[in-house]
Amino acid sequence: MSIIVAIDGPSGAGKGRLAQALCDKYDLAFLDTGLLFRATALKATLKGVAVDDDKALADVAKSLCDEDFEPINELRSEINGQVASKIAVLPKVRAALVSYMKKFAKTNGNKGDGAILDGRDIGTIICPEADVKFFITATPEERAKRRVNELQNRGIPVIFEEVLQEMTRRDRRDRERKDSPLVAASDAIVVDTSKMSIADVVDKAVKAVDKALACA
Ligand code: DC
Repeated sequence: MSIIVAIDGPSGAGKGRLAQALCDKYDLAFLDTGLLFRATALKATLKGVAVDDDKALADVAKSLCDEDFEPINELRSEINGQVASKIAVLPKVRAALVSYMKKFAKTNGNKGDGAILDGRDIGTIICPEADVKFFITATPEERAKRRVNELQNRGIPVIFEEVLQEMTRRDRRDRERKDSPLVAASDAIVVDTSKMSIADVVDKAVKAVDKALACA
């Protein structure tokens, strides 16, 4: 029996760490959908494609291959996150990547133990029928603090105020875009992780997944 777990929320809220813990526990396939937008953004930047050229960017999105996901610092950088968020509003880019995400969910949701997808629109647009949906959030200050720690641990020097400002700008763009905005699905379990440890977040999520498995 397979399940689909959808995890949405703004950046730095803890989606990735929760997804990883659930994948390990339940042996599920995992897609970090933000990486699709980030890989498209980076590849397009390197090719000199303009951030508003929907058609050319969609072609880049369709051409993504394994090498484009190599874990280099530029992929996860703040600046690339901003470009990813900018191109994510464009209809042709979204259509190309929505199709990739839906295909992943369909293929992996029907075989093995299932799949987890994390992103912004998984519970609302990509997998509205997901068995369990989480919306993971935290205060902007806490998310910026975590992001600063993460970047500094990777040897990337950053300033808290700048990270907070960029994060707020990106959140606003992700929440206010017309197509597939960042919003909690009406049936999502909303978890504010501002004052929670990772272990507590995982515990809470595991209870919900176990319940879904028992009902499936
Ligand atoms: O999760 P992330 O920070 O790596 O995502 C980078 C950007 O990609 C994010 O600001 C908006 C976009 N994105 C999206 O529009 N839809 C998704 N499902 C995932 C990410």
